[in-house]
Amino acid sequence: MRRHPSTTPRTPRLTRALGSLLLVAAAGVFAVGAAPAGQERAAATPLDRIVPAPASAEAGGSPYLVTRDTRIRIDAAREDTRRIGAYLADVLRPSTGYPLPLTTHGRGGIRLRLANGRFGAEGYRLDSGARGVTITAREPAGLFHGVQTLRQLLPAAVERKSVQPGPWPVAGGTVEDAPRYAYRGAMLDVSRHFFTVAQVKRYIDELALYKINKLHLHLSDDQGWRIAVDSWPRLAAYGGSTEVGGGPGGFYTKDDYREIVRYAASRYLEVVPEIDMPGHTNAALASYAELNCDGVAPPLYTGTKVGFSSLCVAKDRTYDFVDDVIRELAALTPGRYLHIGGDEAHSTSHDDYVKFMDRVQPVVAKYGKTVIGWHQLTGATPAPGALAQYWGLDSTSAAEKEQVAKAARNGTGLILSPADRVYLDMKYTKDTPLGLAWAGYVEVRRSYDWDPGAYLPGAPASAVRGVEAPLWSETLSTSAHIDYMAFPRLPGAAELGWSPAATHDWETYKVRLAAQAPRWDALGIGYYRSPQVPWPSR
Ligand code: ACM
Repeated sequence: MRRHPSTTPRTPRLTRALGSLLLVAAAGVFAVGAAPAGQERAAATPLDRIVPAPASAEAGGSPYLVTRDTRIRIDAAREDTRRIGAYLADVLRPSTGYPLPLTTHGRGGIRLRLANGRFGAEGYRLDSGARGVTITAREPAGLFHGVQTLRQLLPAAVERKSVQPGPWPVAGGTVEDAPRYAYRGAMLDVSRHFFTVAQVKRYIDELALYKINKLHLHLSDDQGWRIAVDSWPRLAAYGGSTEVGGGPGGFYTKDDYREIVRYAASRYLEVVPEIDMPGHTNAALASYAELNCDGVAPPLYTGTKVGFSSLCVAKDRTYDFVDDVIRELAALTPGRYLHIGGDEAHSTSHDDYVKFMDRVQPVVAKYGKTVIGWHQLTGATPAPGALAQYWGLDSTSAAEKEQVAKAARNGTGLILSPADRVYLDMKYTKDTPLGLAWAGYVEVRRSYDWDPGAYLPGAPASAVRGVEAPLWSETLSTSAHIDYMAFPRLPGAAELGWSPAATHDWETYKVRLAAQAPRWDALGIGYYRSPQVPWPSR
């Protein structure tokens, strides 16, 4: 399977796309200014009107009103609770204009409380009534997710960066919530186009709003190597010096990367770094002649073809390279996983592919990490504990699906990223100015309307570890581009990962999704106004 059948140059289309996106962004700004005040002052949001849908929500009692006197109450002893309280205050202060001090005593107000209970690693309970709102969780991650729920229960204007009139009600009742899957990811391709630390942080904040807990960074590909490796400095210095279309590219220094990891952790996201191997490696091959079987370095590549590059499987030097890169990347990675790619190795023979994976997976284990690979890894021998990321289509052959399902029956965990559902770079329709269409057009309903637990025939539901929405960047180079392709599909992928299957229902989802739009307007997120969704008028 090839991801990009088209090999035409991208630049003219990109220029057109940029023009359209500027219009989209301008429309968004206009809408913010023009939104009727009453729309954002409506009655308190019902407790079940959030995305992702909560496991349970019971309305009852009086609403709580956030006022000038509201305090944010935290446990004295817990630094992580204090940090989550400070994060909440940072969200609420600019728009409410209230001081919202953090305090360790008193009564009422907004209370963040860690306690033993059946919350799991990420679950929480939110109790709201006239006297206050209490969020209780066993772990800080649960408190943080509860804070995201509280944000969504407040009027959308709370997301503005200037003082708004309010009032700020939170409906009375109780939400009890915990995720369906432990792995709820989003991938950003920083190789085809480079995105700065600030752009990545912006995306992290958007992911956190929907309780996504993994940020998969596609750090290397044919068009660019984006992470500094001290033992192989030309990878970043030379291999990172361009991108699709010939722009200047870029790379993360180790300090940049640590800052991304730190910021993600502050939003309870784990960074999953990917070095794609043995294919998708032209940037590395161009940087070091010795990595090529013929000893000749190819030129840097700025087009969008796939499948033409391969590390030299027969050379020992290749495994020095792999060991050094994985060792240095593992040292930068507090998270469990290291993604080794493995897709579209069309220039590697099957035997070589199997040999390569047999030799490389133990290196990941040696440095204390768990392998993730694209699902082609199941054509080799996945290491014990490895996860395979499925990116096929409805139309993928039964044989290929069965190869993955069989691996799942034998213990390989699955992350589901079906390209014709949750690849956020697929065009919504033929008129979408950005993105690709090799997996078809993916409108909002199609993206949402499937069940991860029953998706892959023959794969046990228990093998499914979660859902990830990848965003490939051949045609995307700005945060406005990212936003336009991710919204409104990203919240749907987040809901598939978080919400119980029993809550899944397009007719009610589309209403909840529509209610998010004033929030995106307030946050400056320009989104695709799909005709399938009953958006509020602007
Ligand atoms: C992929 O889209 N080549 C994983």
